[in-house]
Amino acid sequence: MIVCVCNRVSDREIARHAHVGMSFDDIQLELGVATCCGRCEGCARDLVAQCNASRPVAALHDAGAADGRAWAHA
Ligand code: FES
Repeated sequence: MIVCVCNRVSDREIARHAHVGMSFDDIQLELGVATCCGRCEGCARDLVAQCNASRPVAALHDAGAADGRAWAHA
């Protein structure tokens, strides 16, 4: 299914990028999703969040990066 009509970006493309750990901002830069009219942004963000929720390690990594903590292995 096409999520971003303006840039012809599909849910599969977004999910594929999210599953390798890319954030919404990274995916937006890479694919151009939500860079024109913006109507797809909510749907695209939800999709990325769902993919990140199914990858708990990546979600923890992103949370650590977001608040400035370095990711460290014990
Ligand atoms: S539908 Fe994605 S920017 Fe317009």
